[in-house]
Amino acid sequence: MTEAEIHRWLSWGVIGVGVLTFGLLFFVAAPYGRHGRPGWGPTMPTRWAWIVMESPAVLLFGWIYAQGQHRMAPAPLILLILWQVHYVNRTFIYPFRIQSGDKRTPVLVAALAFVFQLINSYVNARHISHLGHYDAAWLEDPRLWIGVGLFLTGRRINTWADAVLIELRKTKKAAPDAPPLERYTIPKGGLYDWISCPNYFGECVEWVGWAVASWSLAGASFAIFTFANLAPRAVAHHRWYRETFPDYPAERKALIPGLW
Ligand SMILES: NC(=O)c1ccc[n+]([C@@H]2O[C@H](COP(=O)([O-])OP(=O)(O)OC[C@H]3O[C@@H](n4cnc5c(N)ncnc54)[C@H](OP(=O)(O)O)[C@@H]3O)[C@@H](O)[C@H]2O)c1
Repeated sequence: MTEAEIHRWLSWGVIGVGVLTFGLLFFVAAPYGRHGRPGWGPTMPTRWAWIVMESPAVLLFGWIYAQGQHRMAPAPLILLILWQVHYVNRTFIYPFRIQSGDKRTPVLVAALAFVFQLINSYVNARHISHLGHYDAAWLEDPRLWIGVGLFLTGRRINTWADAVLIELRKTKKAAPDAPPLERYTIPKGGLYDWISCPNYFGECVEWVGWAVASWSLAGASFAIFTFANLAPRAVAHHRWYRETFPDYPAERKALIPGLW
């Protein structure tokens, strides 16, 4: 098998894992954050879980990119910068901003996410830097700039929504096992008036944007996976908010404004 064939199989594999994840997570909420519960084996500090599970998306992605024949071409460089802007934040800045206290995450969750990011980083870095073809004409293709615009819009929503939650937690810093009303507040304002999880919505828009900008099976596979991973979690968060807060706004949707 050639590398291109292996790469294509891996991209379809990511989509397959996404489909399975989508189905599974509607029945079993990923056991971290507010859905954390005993019975998932040893745990580790949540801050370190973020660093470990997302580190391949910075380090391995960067290393694989640097091996590619097209690494100095402008379009791949734009895609590289977008990717790294997101993942340097998620891996090395965000974990130190969240007020996770002594909150813990199962090692199993971090390990599965780490393995996923190894494959995902290879699939996308190798595509943009080596297996894909982005000549100078791609810089004039509207798909690149529509994708960049979508990515930046999603990123703005995602970082704003994450920041709102970080600020809310600063006002309620009870221990992780304290009752929910001592740790969580109903978020309000902006997109929070429309949906329960603008951070997940922004994240989905970001990766759809990256997929459009790269116009690739690789990029599409990660956009599909992100939606498959976050949509069931948004539904679980939404249900949890409604069960936890009797005054939770009835008109608010879970993930997609006005729709779902
Ligand atoms: N690409 C992907 O597949 C993927 C997968 C997972 C996450 N992500 C991204 O990673 C980021 C974090 O994800 P997450 O699942 O941890 O998000 P989350 O459940 O919304 O929690 C984010 C942080 O805010 C706190 N928080 C949430 N709601 C709160 C409230 N109402 N009041 C006070 N504090 C609150 C949480 O504390 P607790 O931990 O105590 O609940 C946590 O520290 C998001 O931007 C998400 O898009 C991406």
